[in-house]
Amino acid sequence: MQDLLKLVAGSANPALAQEISRHLGIKLTAVDVGRFPDGETSIYIRETVRGADVFIIQPTCPPVNDHLMELLLMTDALKRASAERITAVVPYYGYARQDRKHIGRVPISAKLVANMIVRAGAGRMLTLDLPAGQIQGFFDIPVDNLRGDPIIAGYYQKQNLEDAVIVAPDVGAAKRARAIAERLGLPIAIVEKSRVSPDEVRALSIIGEVKGKRAVLVDDILSTGGTITQAAKLLLDCGATEIYAAFTHGVFAGDAIKKLEESPIRKIAVTNTIPVPQSPKIDVIPVGVLLAETIKRIHYNKSVSEMFPHD
Ligand code: R5P
Repeated sequence: MQDLLKLVAGSANPALAQEISRHLGIKLTAVDVGRFPDGETSIYIRETVRGADVFIIQPTCPPVNDHLMELLLMTDALKRASAERITAVVPYYGYARQDRKHIGRVPISAKLVANMIVRAGAGRMLTLDLPAGQIQGFFDIPVDNLRGDPIIAGYYQKQNLEDAVIVAPDVGAAKRARAIAERLGLPIAIVEKSRVSPDEVRALSIIGEVKGKRAVLVDDILSTGGTITQAAKLLLDCGATEIYAAFTHGVFAGDAIKKLEESPIRKIAVTNTIPVPQSPKIDVIPVGVLLAETIKRIHYNKSVSEMFPHD
């Protein structure tokens, strides 16, 4: 296995790459990622990969375009170096939210980026909690889209949540909230949200009972923090006693950390698909072992869904 399975990491999340490497007992293949004087990205794979089953660990988190370009160039370099198969391990898929023409004259960026990854030479994609499952269809290669809800439910299973309600901060998160609530045996509520602009949202009303309960907001992505801070305020106004929140992907764009630290949310749990900023309010849910186990299963052609026996 060690000869044929190779792990390559870009600069997006070196700590996660190390976590995966430690669990598999396979060293990361030496790669130089740098810059040419004009700012172009340079890549040099320092070891042979001929005939290898190579997994590139590179979430396309901010700076999104730089990390995406690294992923594409590493894939191209590996393909031209005769790697047998290349799997793009993109635990957080940036551009995923632009997945349809919601108005005229906008791109479907999630599809374009998928085309670029496939065209560069990726033969498989491994990701976690795409905002919409259908995005898998944008890739004309096999996609393993691991679900975030068992991970988040697992985090809360260790805590006493008797009087809690799982809350979707918008209608789009309702299915995810339902899945987590069912695993925890808790009721759900849904916040009705309207997005004024990419960095401004308004939480309008709540569907469900939250009065006298601890509210746990769950979502796939925390970006500017606007969605949950607005939802948290509305939940308190509607009688919730304490607010908690959990996310699969913590983008923490702009002044999100400041916003969250000043918010009434007591604790935020987030996985490390993206490097997590330091904050006394944040708990990290590591996903390196899950990704490592999945990589092993892909390499040995074993079922990935068997890892989630209750689904
Ligand atoms: C989309 O609706 C997503 O599920 C998130 O709710 C959203 O992307 C979060 O963005 P922000 O933190 O900027 O409100």
